[in-house]
Amino acid sequence: MHGIIKERLFTPGPTPVFMEAQVRAVTRDLHHRTEDFRQVVRETVDLLRYYFGTKNDVVMFASSGTGAMEGAVANLCSPGDRVLVGTAGKFGERWLALAQAYGVEAVKVESPYGQPVSIEEMKRQLEKSGPFRAVFIQATETSTGVSHDVKALGSLVSKYPETVLVVDAITGLGTTDLRPDEWGLDVVIGGSQKATMMPPGLAFASVSDKAWKTMEKSKSPRFYFDYAKERKNLAKGETAYTPATSLVVSLHGVLSYIKEIGRETLIANAAMLADATRQAAQALRLKPFAASSPANAVTAICAPEGLDSGAIIKELRSRFGAIIANGQGTMKGKIFRLAHLGYFDAVDLFAIVAALEIALNKVGHKVELGSGVRAAQETYLKHVDSAEPHRAGAR
Ligand SMILES: Cc1ncc(COP(=O)(O)O)c(C=O)c1O
Repeated sequence: MHGIIKERLFTPGPTPVFMEAQVRAVTRDLHHRTEDFRQVVRETVDLLRYYFGTKNDVVMFASSGTGAMEGAVANLCSPGDRVLVGTAGKFGERWLALAQAYGVEAVKVESPYGQPVSIEEMKRQLEKSGPFRAVFIQATETSTGVSHDVKALGSLVSKYPETVLVVDAITGLGTTDLRPDEWGLDVVIGGSQKATMMPPGLAFASVSDKAWKTMEKSKSPRFYFDYAKERKNLAKGETAYTPATSLVVSLHGVLSYIKEIGRETLIANAAMLADATRQAAQALRLKPFAASSPANAVTAICAPEGLDSGAIIKELRSRFGAIIANGQGTMKGKIFRLAHLGYFDAVDLFAIVAALEIALNKVGHKVELGSGVRAAQETYLKHVDSAEPHRAGAR
């Protein structure tokens, strides 16, 4: 008997929700064809622009993030088009599967799991194998905990007037500095159950003028995930079909909070948690899975030699109610992943590292209790002491 056990999510989606916004949303009766709701929608779209850091129009759909990914392929590409896909994990592979589903020919630049896509190789392919209708990549590849240099890629793709850059930032938004307008990120995709601190159910995408023009030419079939139709409706505070009303109200609440603390604060928070987790892992003689460019969104850690990561995950779950993620596909059993995106704070960090130390000892990886926590505490202090005073308030 371990006493009271609270279930807590440390997974890279769904993530802990910002309850204040949830409560407000579920306790309201709403109808979407009312002026009240239109006002909420208009303000939410503006707040999304702030969250994305863009002046571009942003569309949203009642779906998981993959809906907006599918929409990006369907709205931008025609059957037979060629696209360039940078893939470094399970979500990069999703771009390839989507291209295939829409009869689009994908040239891929593939990196082994744990390594980022080579931007040099993307450049070579752009020069050698184009023209491409679009380039697809992840800002952060959640399955491996690696981030990509989308700024460099943006500056390369901007040189090709016929090619748009599509960034799956489903775990990049709110964890990583992204500047769609400055860097030429034509389509940037996000989802609600990530740094947006909400339950699953909403996907959003910002779209540049260059991408809107490309969409006018696409001949692929589309109906629900029609970006242009949604843009037209959202401009009036409407959505084409019944919106997920309570999620939209919740999004309005969360984004207001994010605006209050500052987008940069949210990103710096994830960066601090990720850095502290990496330092703690090192102190606990654990190897990071990302060979380079580790993401702020999630840290993937290799299971100690001879141990299945599932044993650690099970111990954390049964002993502490802490839910962390296993590896996906062939990475299952080899790594475990701790999330930093959204509504996590320093106490969550110290607690999960302390719990991890106990779990590691229980499954046979002997570590000195407190050694990881100490590394996390020291890294926390380094970040916080060097940071500008921020506007964050306790909630
Ligand atoms: C980078 C990335 N892309 C795409 C997805 C798919 O999003 P969803 O599960 O919301 O469809 C995820 C989900 O974890 C993700 O992390």
